[in-house]
Amino acid sequence: MEIIVLENKGDSENDRVLRQKAKPVKDITGEVRKIAQEMIEAMHRGRGVGLAGPQVGFLRRIFVTHAEGDHPRVFIDPSIVWTSQEQVNYEEGCLSLPGIWAHVTRPGKIKIQAWNEKGRAFTLEAQGILARVILHEYDHLEGILFIDRLDEARRSKVLSKLEKQKKAG
Ligand code: NI
Repeated sequence: MEIIVLENKGDSENDRVLRQKAKPVKDITGEVRKIAQEMIEAMHRGRGVGLAGPQVGFLRRIFVTHAEGDHPRVFIDPSIVWTSQEQVNYEEGCLSLPGIWAHVTRPGKIKIQAWNEKGRAFTLEAQGILARVILHEYDHLEGILFIDRLDEARRSKVLSKLEKQKKAG
């Protein structure tokens, strides 16, 4: 089975899924490991650097990352336990919002606790692109898209572009 990445092009059903808060995974079963592997494959196919459960219609607290210079990682039931005061402004895109790119301000460094696909708990300190990707993917678990973090002027610009894409099909 090939999993499909849900795109928010004004499609109400996809938007409804992307806007939900994901539930904990709790039991890291063989099925969860299989989904994690499929999510990594889908992320690579889409040339993305991260992908979260809700983006493939799996409303559980799981995401995968593959930041430049890093290896693929799986985060299950993550908690962000620390973020730096220092904020960084950097351009983001999202596999669920094709064609949309915008600068978003986020903490530059973070510390996260999670479980990997083998059921092993870990703590990771991240900065740079990896920290950025983790924060973006974590937002997906809360039903938040990066465009929600733009100021009003830039957000309305993006929304009108999405509206045009919707009309174009
Ligand atoms: Ni995204």
